[in-house]
Parts: sequence; C-alpha cells; structure tokens
Amino acid sequence: MQLPASTLLALVPFYLASFAAAQGSSGSGKTTRYWDCCKPSCGWPKKGNSASPVLTCDKSDRPLNDGGSTKSGCDNGGNAFMCSSQSPWAVNETHSYGWAAVNVAGSNEAAWCCACYELTFTSGPVQGKKLIVQATNTGGDLGNNHFDLAIPGGGVGQFNACTQQYGAPSNGWGDRYGGVHSRSDCDNFPAALKAGCYWRFDWFQGADNPSVSFKQVACPAAITAKSGCVRANDAINESPVGPSSVPTYTP
Ligand SMILES: *[C@@H]1O[C@H](CO)[C@@H](O)[C@H](O)[C@H]1NC(C)=O
Repeated sequence: MQLPASTLLALVPFYLASFAAAQGSSGSGKTTRYWDCCKPSCGWPKKGNSASPVLTCDKSDRPLNDGGSTKSGCDNGGNAFMCSSQSPWAVNETHSYGWAAVNVAGSNEAAWCCACYELTFTSGPVQGKKLIVQATNTGGDLGNNHFDLAIPGGGVGQFNACTQQYGAPSNGWGDRYGGVHSRSDCDNFPAALKAGCYWRFDWFQGADNPSVSFKQVACPAAITAKSGCVRANDAINESPVGPSSVPTYTP
C-alpha cells in the first residue's frame, strides 16, 4: 500500500512516542547475582541498535574487538568470554556502576541491550544506595523486571565458562547459584576478578538479592567506555553522559 506523504508525516509523532515508551522503563524489580564468564548475549552483533556490540574478551581476558563474531566460551570450543573489566565498582559511598543480565516486563532484548538502568535498592543493608547498570545480557531463567547483577564470584548459574577461562571448580566458585560466602573467599581469586568479588562484601555489604526500584537513564560514559556499547537512541538522546572514567572509591 502506498501512503501519501502527509499520512506518513502524521505517523511520526506516534513513532517517536513509541520510542519514548521503550526508553522510559521504570518500576520495581528483583535482583540476583551471577558471573558465568560466558560471552554476554548483547556481545553478538545487531542485538540492540548500537554500532558495536558489548566488548568481549579471549580466554586470557584480552579484548577481542571482533565485532561480536567469536563463539561463546559456553559453546563448545568458543573463545569469547565476559571481560573482567565489566565488574562492578564503587563510584562513592552511595553510587556504584556495573552490568547486568536483564529482563524488563513488556520490553525485549532489542530494546534493553546496552540500555542503562538506575537501580535504587529497597531492601537489605544497601537500602537507599544506587547501582547504575548497563544491560549486557539476558537469560531464559529471568522473570519480569529482573536484574541479574554481574558480580565475579556471584555464582555461575545455568552456564559455566569460568572453569575453562580461569580453572574454577566445576560448579564455579562457591555455590553454583549465589557463589562464594565471604570476603576472604575472594582472596584466592584470579587477579582480574578480585576487586569485583570484594565489591560484593564492601560497597554492596554482602546484600543477598535485594529488591529495587528502577528507571532507565542515559548511560554514564564511564560505563560505555568499558563496554564499548552505546545505543543509537540512548535515553533522551543524550548519550553518553558524564566523564569516561571515574575514580574508584574504597570504603
Ligand atoms: C556519587 O556519585 C554519583 C554518580 O557520579 C553522583 O551523582 C553523586 O552526587 C555522588 N555523591 C556524592 C556524595 O559524592
């Protein structure tokens, strides 16, 4: 069907409005934690609308810069893994930055790959603190409004490439779901994953799957500088925000 130009123009506001709706996700949700060392799903080309997929690394944690073409370490013989640089870090006492596998109710992977969400914890010792995460992954085992926080030593969960990449025990470090139990369990971690493992017991205060309220925000440049992934229509078209690096705060 051929639509007259005037009709097409009339449709523009609806098109923009639907983008705005996809960009404006907010609500309340749950968190879990994981670190399976696998290539995150937004590391494949053309998952979201970013020019580059999420950066992945080889077995030795070196950036692949392969445009997302390398098979995951979770597929037989694959050599793409999660980069240790995508570990959470504390910006200051009240704010941290990190990454997560995400499922937002009523949305889809194309809309959330590389989008950022400000999570405000609403339970546990971290209540009131904020963690801004970029969605780098999804998961068939995630429910609605679920943020599975990428934390080294947080449990490998369903898949495990950490044995292949770092020689972790066959079910990962600690429990398969939930991971290690105490700060000292991080002491013998691979050097690249230590800081992220400690983060859980320092800034995150050992919180155990706290609930959150969340809203989508423009991605901080310090996050996209590490992931290499910026949405073409990042929230309110002002991406990325802030400096591309922020100092690490030690509690
Ligand atoms: C902590 O960092 C966040 C993110 O950069 C910033 O918005 C906030 O104002 C900072 N808070 C303090 C107390 O410095």
